[in-house]
Amino acid sequence: MRRRTTVVTTAAALAGALALAGCSDSGSGSASGSGSSKAELSVSGPYMPQPVSADMAAGFLTITNKGAAEDELTSVSSDIAGQVTMHSTMGGAMQEQTSFAIPAHGQLVFKSGGNHLMFEKLKRQPKQGRTVTVKLTFAKSGPLTVEMPVKSATYNPSTGH
Ligand code: CU
Repeated sequence: MRRRTTVVTTAAALAGALALAGCSDSGSGSASGSGSSKAELSVSGPYMPQPVSADMAAGFLTITNKGAAEDELTSVSSDIAGQVTMHSTMGGAMQEQTSFAIPAHGQLVFKSGGNHLMFEKLKRQPKQGRTVTVKLTFAKSGPLTVEMPVKSATYNPSTGH
């Protein structure tokens, strides 16, 4: 895994009700300033099914990278959870991961039945119609903050209900 020392800024195109914060690094301290290859990350389709469990919830979203360099999602946090972990699902068994790659010109998808976020040690119960604030931290790009809507427990994004 290569690590670049240059400071990169995130140009994020956001749709709908998403909110963005914290990617205003001016680039001071950049070693080269070339800017020729960096990740350009944006988030789409975030949602959380209203959890049936009192202490755990799942979350889903897609991170798109329009840039020419890969990046990595290295941690996730939320106002409603003591801890958010990232899981992959392989053959029906889920496994915690410490990071997920976001390929250049590619996507990282968290969806029902596949990769997912797990919100643990819930501080309050997410209710349908409300939103949850989720902060995504990356290896190279600045952090992204997403307002994740809480949907019904059986929400299916392909049908919209
Ligand atoms: Cu899991």
